[in-house]
Amino acid sequence: MKLWGGRFKESESKLMEDFNSSLSFDKTLYKQDITGSIAHVEMLSKCGIISVSEGNLIKQGLEEILSDIESGKLNIEGSYEDIHSFVESNLTSRLGEVGKKLHTARSRNDQVAVDMRLYAKEAAKEVAENIKTLVSTLTELGEKNSGVIMPGYTHMQRAQVVTFKYYMLAYVSMFKRDVKRLNSALEILNESPLGCCALAGTTYNIDREYTAEKLGFSKPVDNFLDGVSDRDYLIELQAAFSIIMMHLSRLSEELIIWSSKEFGFIQISDEFATGSSIMPQKKNPDAAELIRGKTGRVYGALVSILTMMKSLPLAYNKDMQEDKEPFFDSVKTVLSSIQVMAGMLKTLTVKGDRMKEAVKLGFLNATEVADYLVLKGMPFRDAHGVVGSIVLYCEEKSCSIEELSLEELKGFSQLFEEGVYEYIDYENSLEKGIKNQMK
Ligand code: ARG
Repeated sequence: MKLWGGRFKESESKLMEDFNSSLSFDKTLYKQDITGSIAHVEMLSKCGIISVSEGNLIKQGLEEILSDIESGKLNIEGSYEDIHSFVESNLTSRLGEVGKKLHTARSRNDQVAVDMRLYAKEAAKEVAENIKTLVSTLTELGEKNSGVIMPGYTHMQRAQVVTFKYYMLAYVSMFKRDVKRLNSALEILNESPLGCCALAGTTYNIDREYTAEKLGFSKPVDNFLDGVSDRDYLIELQAAFSIIMMHLSRLSEELIIWSSKEFGFIQISDEFATGSSIMPQKKNPDAAELIRGKTGRVYGALVSILTMMKSLPLAYNKDMQEDKEPFFDSVKTVLSSIQVMAGMLKTLTVKGDRMKEAVKLGFLNATEVADYLVLKGMPFRDAHGVVGSIVLYCEEKSCSIEELSLEELKGFSQLFEEGVYEYIDYENSLEKGIKNQMK
């Protein structure tokens, strides 16, 4: 069933028909397509381009198609070229001649452009809502373990002491930026391409402001050529999705490392782990690994769409049909990854004792020892050197700095006095350092 054919003598090859058909994936847009068509038909009758009774009949027909799809009475299948052809053919078979008036003053080029924008808006809002839930989960996890201290790392080497809560709040900051990025993309894309028609508008006296407002856009697009061929907003959202996945992937990596026997900082719940078919003792962090792995898939989609758009002349080109599968897949992947991450965080156990042990064994107060000497008048660079020798000495003795006697410390610098022990205490250094910033 085709929407065209008048100027053709021969029928399309089956190979070409299958190659060209997008119904198997653009059926995702059925709701947006019908919503867009209803706004269009209301505008046509308001502007007197079709009669009010024709407009009402078409609107009713479209609403019936929507409810039949949603109730499962109507399956989106068959040899239709795309979702637009499916809906229009279905309408005409229900209403007869009047159904054929739906496409007056419209092209599939502005139709698909409006469908995708409507879909992208809903998807971005849903992703943002899910991230907000993840942010609350991270905040609660930090709060629940607010007394826990742990090593902070640079180069994956123990560096300075931090709190587990502060660590979680780092991810909270990242995910809050992600929400801002989505909101900014939403604001930019909020213009309606409906009424651009194929590329140069229409001679009918249509009302683009009316359809823009009906569909929840802030205004119609400024330029028709751009309106039908702009996919910037998909690329921008894909970039935002990629950054979200990058953040999720970093957090996944931490959870994988922390849950190893070597670290033992956390235990992932049975609900979000799997076993091995051969090694009975194994409990694998598959959820985190899958999120890390799926990040590549979302990056791939970004590069796909960017590359597809590269060098395309104005205006619409069929290449653009290739925006859909990667974008739909990314929306699904990002949503499930955020949800699985939140589930994993809600159910994991934080092992505060193990983290504290790692703090003690890591010379994590070495910077504070240097700061102490600076306070007593030594230049920082010299203090750095002195503490370096203390660490070497401790390593040979297998002890921590605070375990050295004052006499031993004085052997490195006469500036050491009794007060040093309190100064370099882990909890005290937290008090002086990041605790201030957490307020
Ligand atoms: N299925 C197409 C797409 O997804 C929309 C149809 C536009 N087709 C056309 N022949 N102008 O981009």
